[in-house]
Amino acid sequence: MTNPDAAISVRDLRKSYGKFTALDGVSFDIHPGETFALLGPNGAGKSTAIEILEGYRDRTSGEARVLGVDPGAGGLDWKARLGIVLQSTGESGNATVREQLAHFAGFYPNPRDVDEVIAAVGLEEKQKTLIRKLSGGQRRRVDVALGIIGNPALLFLDEPTTGFDPESRRQFWQLIRGLKTDGTTILLTTHYLDEAATLGDRAGIIAGGRLIDIGEIDEIGGTEARVPVVRWVADGVAREQRTTTPATLVAELVAANGGAEVPGLEVVRPSLEDIYLELVARHETAFPEHVEEPPSGKNASTGSATGVSTGPTREVSTGSATEKEIAR
Ligand SMILES: Nc1ncnc2c1ncn2[C@@H]1O[C@H](COP(=O)(O)OP(=O)(O)O)[C@@H](O)[C@H]1O
Ligand SMILES: [Mg+2]
Repeated sequence: MTNPDAAISVRDLRKSYGKFTALDGVSFDIHPGETFALLGPNGAGKSTAIEILEGYRDRTSGEARVLGVDPGAGGLDWKARLGIVLQSTGESGNATVREQLAHFAGFYPNPRDVDEVIAAVGLEEKQKTLIRKLSGGQRRRVDVALGIIGNPALLFLDEPTTGFDPESRRQFWQLIRGLKTDGTTILLTTHYLDEAATLGDRAGIIAGGRLIDIGEIDEIGGTEARVPVVRWVADGVAREQRTTTPATLVAELVAANGGAEVPGLEVVRPSLEDIYLELVARHETAFPEHVEEPPSGKNASTGSATGVSTGPTREVSTGSATEKEIAR
């Protein structure tokens, strides 16, 4: 049974493309106001799951509720409450940034202020530029701006910052934090684990169409995966030891060193990235058939979806979009 109090609730969600199973029984809830990071390698099923929840793809079986509505049957009122940033859109229209945003703002009952949105995505200086003349990263910001212009209660962000430089990514994080403060529920996919760690409240890790772990960002993977490592150098040799009592070990090292500083000393806690890589590697060892083939040039991530609409009447074509995923 789906959870009626959740912003998103899915139970045993399955999706097959012919004989291929892209989602193999996924269940989770996302609570109102939460930022949830859906993580996983290329081909894991993240975009498939998100696009089902956005109402773009039919599911093969299972239950789904998004803002209380079955996404397979959501009407315009429901769509107007969603903000959608697809993995690949690449807005390339013959309009300026400002014209495009003002145009789409008109489709929503309660849009955000166009100037505010332009400022939030850092496109003030480009607002009179034709979208097709923007750089890839700037166009991605237009995608994000179009995703939030309708003042959504629920925002889907599928790899929003791919192609951003580090400074733009930090600006984007500020924008997302502002939306969080306003109470927006956010479902985010990203290959940047630092992004997931800084923005996310909880994360789910998906591999081979299955949810292999879910939890609070600072608890995922369990306590065993989070045991700190103490590193130091003794007699010119780098050493390390995993320990749940790093302070005790450091005190012992200092004592053994006659009270002097210990060369090369550091205490490191595994990052979300370390834990993620460990969990995915474990899954791939257990289910080698789930390991995605290297990209073959076909646009696997957006499939054959053409002319899908984002927001109430927004039309975008993803059919000709090139593969934007980064292999990491
Ligand atoms: N329209 C489609 N037709 C056939 N296979 C597809 C289609 N869309 C996605 N797939 C396959 O489903 C799997 C999951 O894809 P996707 O959801 O895009 O993964 P992710 O977003 O996690 O990288 C991949 O193996 C992909 O090739
Ligand atoms: Mg994807």
